Amino acid sequence: MNELTRTLILIKPDGYSRGLTGTILQRIEAKGYTLKALSVVNASEEQLASHYAEHVNKPFYPGVRDYMMSGPIVAVIVEGYRVIEGMRSIMGATDPTTAAPGSIRGDLACASSDDTIRNLIHGSDSLESATREIAIWFPELA
Ligand code: PPS
Repeated sequence: MNELTRTLILIKPDGYSRGLTGTILQRIEAKGYTLKALSVVNASEEQLASHYAEHVNKPFYPGVRDYMMSGPIVAVIVEGYRVIEGMRSIMGATDPTTAAPGSIRGDLACASSDDTIRNLIHGSDSLESATREIAIWFPELA
């Protein structure tokens, strides 16, 4: 039997500023998942360092941090059966240039002139990550 699980989704600054929040949420709901909490926030350096804890020492992290602080983001808790893998599937691959057509990143994002990957959306990669990330963005629900 599958159990209802939750994942943490972030609509990144490019998604928010391009007016794609509604389109992305519509795709999530059309897939059959339920929105359980939603918040428009300006991410702090501390939140991002926690969220990307396994990447903070990687060379690309300063670019990720600056991108994620470039404007508001939308944090969403999404619930469903096998929702973590389902969201990763509808998001598509990290690189929007090669993300599969039909996926959110594949249909709605592409490369830009610099090396920063602006790929619209983040989704937790495991149950453990989802629990940790929900506590960062929705401490009142943890
Ligand atoms: S790794 O090293 O393979 O574990 O990294 P990866 O899983 O591919 O990426 C980890 C997160 O960092 C983001 N990322 C970037 N963002 C902006 N610019 C660049 N160059 C870049 N490289 C990696 C990537 O999108 C992952 O973030 P999330 O939020 O999970 O998509």
